[in-house]
Amino acid sequence: RRMSDVILLGQTLSFAGDPFAAPWSEVTRHRERGGVLIRDGRIAAVDEGDILRQANPGAELRDYGRALISAGFVDAHMHYPQSSIIGSWGKRLIDWLNGYTFPEEMRLADPDYAAETAGRTLDLALAHGTTSLCSFCTIHPHSVDLFFEAARQRGMRVVAGKTCMDRNAPDGLRDTVQCAQDDTAALIARWHRKGRALYAITPRFSPTSTPDQLEALGALWAANPDCLMQTHLAEQTDEVAWVRALFPDARDYLDTYERFGLLGERGLYGHAIHLEPREIDRLAETGAAVVHCPTSNTFIGSGLFDMAGLKGRGLSVGLATDTGGGSSFSMLRTMAAAYEIGQLRGTPMHAAQLMWLATEGSARALHLGGTIGHLGPGAEADLVVLDLASTPAIAQRTDRATDLWEALFPTIMMGDDRAVRDVWIAGKRVEMT
Ligand code: GUN
Ligand code: ZN
Repeated sequence: RRMSDVILLGQTLSFAGDPFAAPWSEVTRHRERGGVLIRDGRIAAVDEGDILRQANPGAELRDYGRALISAGFVDAHMHYPQSSIIGSWGKRLIDWLNGYTFPEEMRLADPDYAAETAGRTLDLALAHGTTSLCSFCTIHPHSVDLFFEAARQRGMRVVAGKTCMDRNAPDGLRDTVQCAQDDTAALIARWHRKGRALYAITPRFSPTSTPDQLEALGALWAANPDCLMQTHLAEQTDEVAWVRALFPDARDYLDTYERFGLLGERGLYGHAIHLEPREIDRLAETGAAVVHCPTSNTFIGSGLFDMAGLKGRGLSVGLATDTGGGSSFSMLRTMAAAYEIGQLRGTPMHAAQLMWLATEGSARALHLGGTIGHLGPGAEADLVVLDLASTPAIAQRTDRATDLWEALFPTIMMGDDRAVRDVWIAGKRVEMT
């Protein structure tokens, strides 16, 4: 018994496996009156609330009643520099990048603005129940320092990297082969596995890097194989055609990464909608992860991600907002969009699968399975507590629910930051600003 122990009481939801690989009911554990014991920043136990209370009489109690305690949400692909342009009207990918994104990313040349944007983004993420995220930064190295620093101040586990671009981007937003390599190497040395930070080598996507830059970043990844690598893949058909024109020798889009050493198990490929059979085969063989960004894919008009097909092939799949191409900071709204895209493809997902994707699935994509996104012993105590009756519209529906799934699904479909009752980071309750 230790004085610093805390027990959270409420409904609890945990996963013992992947609900796409086994029937969801076999790998899902729900307790009506559960408890989570937090000790030294980690989850020490998840059990019946009464059992934890009897075994730990000195622990501080937090009773959340009928609210649902879950692992915090993990957003596996987003762009913190784009927070301020979320919800910008009327463009598709290439025009959206040139018209909205690049001008905004240029503003982060000002370190004060970059710091303010990083802090604001992390506070918005926390308010929406997102406890970890994997973010692109801008080409400016200080955009990475300031983001990791803002995450450190909040105690959050984040993954991030300097976005590298040495062509097809405006003046002021391009680096060079040498400078991308040198800046990235210095940032890895400064941040990778310092506290809760992890570094992801970050070529934006193959249209904005020369073959030489891709090769240099591939070599850097080979020299730092513990780093993650994040980029974009096959988001829109126009983009795929552009990649074909820029890389006439490549077999397909994925090959523009593969041939330069940028395909590997710790690689994260955002969107992955318009894939060729060979690309799916190679992603499956290498154990690389793809990241589904459903609100972005409908908002920018990219297409319908094949969750059933790719999970069926055994691919690792994360879920993400893709802020600010995505239209919401909320992983609840993101789950809803993923559900709707599944419906349009004739393969709707169960609420258990959606919750798993937003927590365990994204954590596994980041190779942090069991560390974050997991409500079980040994995991870092990053939690979200969801009010399942957060608005009158949701409450009047939930009133007649007969099991957890009926009680939870309206919040997945209709919930937002109002459903987030509390957030815990590394065992400490977050004071919302
Ligand atoms: N492809 C290359 N850059 C980006 C970006 O910033 N957002 C999205 N959605 N796709 C991209
Ligand atoms: Zn993106």
